[in-house]
Amino acid sequence: MAETVTLTVNGNNYEFPILEGSCGEKAIDISQLRSQTGLITYDPGFTCTGSCSSKITFLDGEKGVLLYRGIPIEQLAEKSTFIETAYLLIYGELPTQDQLDEFHYHIIHHSMVHESIKNFYDGFPNNPHPMAVCSAVVGSLATFYQNELNVRDEHEVEITIHRLLAKLPTIAAYSYKKSIGQPLPYPDNQLDYTTNFLKMMFATPCEPYTVDPVAARALDVLLIIHADHEQNCSTSSVRLVGSSMSNLFASVSAGIYALWGPLHGGANQAVIEMLQRIYDDGGDVYKYVNRAKDPKDPFRLMGFGHRVYKNFDPRSRIIKKMADEVLKKSGVKEPLLEIASELEKIALQDDYFIEKKLYPNVDFYSGIIYKALNIPVNMFPLMFAMGRLPGWIAQWKELQEDKAFKIGRPRQLYVGPTMREYLPMNERG
Ligand code: ACO
Repeated sequence: MAETVTLTVNGNNYEFPILEGSCGEKAIDISQLRSQTGLITYDPGFTCTGSCSSKITFLDGEKGVLLYRGIPIEQLAEKSTFIETAYLLIYGELPTQDQLDEFHYHIIHHSMVHESIKNFYDGFPNNPHPMAVCSAVVGSLATFYQNELNVRDEHEVEITIHRLLAKLPTIAAYSYKKSIGQPLPYPDNQLDYTTNFLKMMFATPCEPYTVDPVAARALDVLLIIHADHEQNCSTSSVRLVGSSMSNLFASVSAGIYALWGPLHGGANQAVIEMLQRIYDDGGDVYKYVNRAKDPKDPFRLMGFGHRVYKNFDPRSRIIKKMADEVLKKSGVKEPLLEIASELEKIALQDDYFIEKKLYPNVDFYSGIIYKALNIPVNMFPLMFAMGRLPGWIAQWKELQEDKAFKIGRPRQLYVGPTMREYLPMNERG
């Protein structure tokens, strides 16, 4: 017999089914709660709320497990490419060689942006944050493909997926080129995804430029480990926007904005700024660990803690190893890596961090690699967005194809004033 839970309200018993996920997670199905009992649930930050069922990504925060379509992140980071992983996330299976070639062909053939998009970059003030620029430009893509935005048309969705994956690196590289006053380059379709991006970032028309394959692979792996993370803040934003049947450009544009915040994708920028501050302040790591522990001090150790991982973040292990390798190969001595290692060592032995289960997250070391690749600090969150794009697309597509599709619309517990009269101005205190 299917498991249920019984809720007693005013002496009446109500039964609700317990659903079981494929990896053993259980959830109470409360979709009939309000119609049967008149109650709603209250769960600020959605810490115990499943907003959908999904076949894309599984994570076990206690055991530090992360699977994309069932495949462990460690295996994908070692053996796959970003484009192959994107295919896996979006379509559910690893591609055959022919499927991969076709997918890649479609992506590279959409890598240019409309020439008039270049004018947009002139309209922003000096030094705009690249997340703001890219979200705006991604949203504006909808204006260029107005007749191909039907979210229920398979072909139109497919071409939009190709356009987004193809154009985001170009849009991102343009935000950097514009900020340093260099000409906006064209993509080179003979190159792979990450090599093409790095070339657009760092080549100039004046001299030949060859992308270091170690740098390109490092970036590819970083994109892979960021590619999806189930119902996090930005992905939930993409799903919520998509649930009104808004097109994929609009939904992803919202996702970029959600990712921007320092508690989410903006953390990688915040980490490097924090490490730099500690370094500039004489490198006293204990001082900052103590500040993070002080309840009266709002300072937090950026790159520590995670809503779901309460043991370790499997992505941070992959990144830490890669940071060591990239820095060793490049011969660059990075004092911030030493500060980071010391900070990690001290925090991991400290009761405060142990009790609260605060471990380095994916962002703790990623910034150090981006820095070694010469990516400017304010573009770190954008690197995260480029990586997360296939996850956003896969989750948006899954939502649109879901038989249980519904517009997202949480309820609330109203605690404001009860009904009262409108007071004319001369009677207000
Ligand atoms: N430094 C010091 N204390 C911390 C930290 C930290 N980095 N993170 C959490 N805590 C403390 C909180 O003060 C709180 O203490 P309290 O119980 O005494 O009030 C307790 O640990 C629980 O913290 P919450 O914020 O309630 O935990 P939540 O799960 O809501 O937040 C979050 C997780 C937002 C990631 C948090 O740990 C944080 O702010 N970390 C720093 C920012 C960061 O690295 N963000 C990147 C997240 S990963 C990603 O988005 C890819």
